[in-house]
Amino acid sequence: MTDPGHIPVLLDQVLNLLDPQPGEFVVDCTVGRGGHAEHLAGAVQPGGWVFGFDLDADNLAFAEQRVQAAGGAFSAVHSSFVRMPQVLRDRQVHADMVLADLGFSSNQMDDPQRGFSFNADGPLDMRLDPSGRTAAADLIAAMTERELADAIFQYGEDPYARRIARKIVQSRVREPIRTTAQLARLVEEAYGPRARSSRMHPATRTFMAMRIAVNDELAALRSLLDDITRAAGQREGTWLAAKARVGIISFHSLEDRMVKQTFAELERRELATRLTRRPVTATEQEARANPRARSAKLRVMQLG
Ligand SMILES: C[S@@+](CC[C@H](N)C(=O)[O-])C[C@H]1O[C@@H](n2cnc3c(N)ncnc32)[C@H](O)[C@@H]1O
Repeated sequence: MTDPGHIPVLLDQVLNLLDPQPGEFVVDCTVGRGGHAEHLAGAVQPGGWVFGFDLDADNLAFAEQRVQAAGGAFSAVHSSFVRMPQVLRDRQVHADMVLADLGFSSNQMDDPQRGFSFNADGPLDMRLDPSGRTAAADLIAAMTERELADAIFQYGEDPYARRIARKIVQSRVREPIRTTAQLARLVEEAYGPRARSSRMHPATRTFMAMRIAVNDELAALRSLLDDITRAAGQREGTWLAAKARVGIISFHSLEDRMVKQTFAELERRELATRLTRRPVTATEQEARANPRARSAKLRVMQLG
């Protein structure tokens, strides 16, 4: 197999906590390059199955080939995981295990044509699904200064959000902002001399904020958590099996808070048990080998 382009984070911890067993049915909401799915699919043999969802058709095709080459049973669904519960209900199947490893994969970030990174110039795109409607350039052209400032502040937690939003609005009157280099330069200008003392590249937070906005990532997670909550409350005839395990890996404090609150609330209502009281994070060794793992937080719960 060619280079997968993404190292799965917290793999051992995911396998230990989700504890896949032969014959079980797994849903990987964000199958990406199939790093987790390959191992989950192996562990549920014989008789088990993995359903992989992804917005990115290329990642999905890669994952399908990878899992099947390793002898796993796999079905690919090119869709947001927002539609996942309905897909399972339509097929009348019940997930024994659900994994969501949120955000983007390294190969998406590293491809300048996808527009996620300020490290190389490319079109200001940022769509996880390149066939989706609105690219970052369109969003940046359409949002008001206030909306831009709010997004950069809330999703990017950038203290200079207002200043950056003003810079963007002043600049787009003269010339549309269509490339990653243009946006990165504007953020640097908004930071001014502070850019030199900033620990990370000043555009880091703005790029993260715009990616979250373009892909409506928090709304997608909200929808998944609400569906899990409803299914947990129903007990019968749902898309989740009675003792299903749910694991979510997040990379953003807002996402982790949503997961934490939902799992805690389900436990309070005695509908689920948290298998992690605190989020599981990467070991020193993993964080050194894979810098992306540094901000990963895994929480797992079990219904019932
Ligand atoms: C962190 S990567 C997953 C990596 C995967 N666990 C692996 O080990 O290869 C996240 C993936 O989720 C996909 N994604 C993000 N939001 C999604 C959504 N709402 N629905 C489906 N896929 C989504 C991205 O396109 C990306 O491929």
